[in-house]
Amino acid sequence: MANVAIIGAQWGDEGKGKVVDWLASRADIVVRFQGGHNAGHTLVVGNQTYKLSLLPSGVVRGKLGVIGNGVVLDPNALLEEIARVKTQGLEVGPHNLRIAENVPLILPVHPAIDKAREAARGKSAIGTTGRGIGPAYEDKVARRAIRLCDLAEPETLSHKLDELLLHHNTLLRGLGAETFEKATLLDGLLALAPKLLPFAEAVWERLDTARQEGRRVLFEGAQAVMLDVDHGTYPYVTSSNTVAGNAAAGAGVSPHAIGTILGIAKAYTTRVGAGPFPTELFDDTGKLLGQRGHEFGTVTGRPRRCGWFDACLVRQAVKVGGVGGLVLTKLDVLDGLPELKICTGYSIHGETFRRLPAAAAAQAAATPIYETMEGWSGSTRGARSWAELPAQAIKYVRRIEELVEAPVTLLSTSPERDDTITVSDPFAG
Ligand code: GDP
Ligand code: IMO
Ligand code: MG
Repeated sequence: MANVAIIGAQWGDEGKGKVVDWLASRADIVVRFQGGHNAGHTLVVGNQTYKLSLLPSGVVRGKLGVIGNGVVLDPNALLEEIARVKTQGLEVGPHNLRIAENVPLILPVHPAIDKAREAARGKSAIGTTGRGIGPAYEDKVARRAIRLCDLAEPETLSHKLDELLLHHNTLLRGLGAETFEKATLLDGLLALAPKLLPFAEAVWERLDTARQEGRRVLFEGAQAVMLDVDHGTYPYVTSSNTVAGNAAAGAGVSPHAIGTILGIAKAYTTRVGAGPFPTELFDDTGKLLGQRGHEFGTVTGRPRRCGWFDACLVRQAVKVGGVGGLVLTKLDVLDGLPELKICTGYSIHGETFRRLPAAAAAQAAATPIYETMEGWSGSTRGARSWAELPAQAIKYVRRIEELVEAPVTLLSTSPERDDTITVSDPFAG
């Protein structure tokens, strides 16, 4: 099966956007299957930088983008993003973007609740993006979500909003936040309907036809395995399943259609928001990684926490995410560091672990067990072949392959689209 799925193997921002954009040249359709506009994917193409949150990264390559039912869609955020990329010369419309008719919508109540809850949590806040992702997924599971297809049935919207607001206004009142008027929400949705409905369709059917015609589909994951609602560092996670298995449910395709699964990992580690991070660095090296890697959140602008490569964590992500090949990014950020550390396991209350246990207190107590490697003095920046890499950099990559138990399929050496080393073609199956 010549399809490919891309997922993050750490805590997000591994460079999925760049990799999807690069691979999209060989795909026909690029599908988002989970998450929402909490994602921030940066693509650098020549002198243009695209920052995408909801649009599948393949649209920049002129490919058909699909937003699957597993996403939570903020209509205003989508329209703003479409307007923003238009100023960069990229036309997005129903000709190159299709949206699952059954996708749940993020309404203005959702970010309001997200923010009010985070404020109420005080010091134990999760550090969400404040975009209403969690509350929108909660509504989906609680069977009170407004879905895109509902915009075509204005007469049922009013009743649905009653049920939704009964729940949310009670909660907002309890949190001391402002409540919402049904009429305002209803008017907003009715005004959005003609703008959004032309994008809506049964995307599962289109994907089924694509399969029959032998077209290549690229599934673009957002967030990462360690932010997965089941497999991540719960409760410091996002509210969707980020593992590749969710591409099937989140797009409406067979699990057999997922094809090759690539896990993206930086050559070090970063995290935005709160939660355990065993290899986090609080010293000058951590600062240096942040500066050189330009580690600021694409969505919120928050500085990302930085640390050494955690092979124990990525190995776990490889196993639970079904990763067959690793894409290692940002190797160039490590150029010139005299010494590099790789975490191979954890010590927790005197016991050694080769996985991150699920319990929150144990995760918080995990101290990394490191092995140390020599750095390299040459540059890897912009390399497009193994021959351009210093021998010690190759050693570092090889050691990572061994420790995470997955081969490196692609290597990224700068933000620029073509600064990529291909080891094998993921679409070859
Ligand atoms: P995503 O959320 O996984 O798509 O990643 P983001 O786009 O949020 O963050 C990754 C950042 O690293 C972006 O600014 C990319 O332009 C940049 N980037 C991607 N690959 C590389 C690389 O190999 N080297 C360097 N220096 N930057 C990279
Ligand atoms: P991409 O696709 C990094 C983090 C937030 C917070 C937690 C929950 O660009 O890799 P949420 O708003 O989802 O309820 O926040 O998840 N988070 C991300 N961190 N990259 C992302 O996306 C993220 N999306 C959410 O910072 O810690
Ligand atoms: Mg990002």
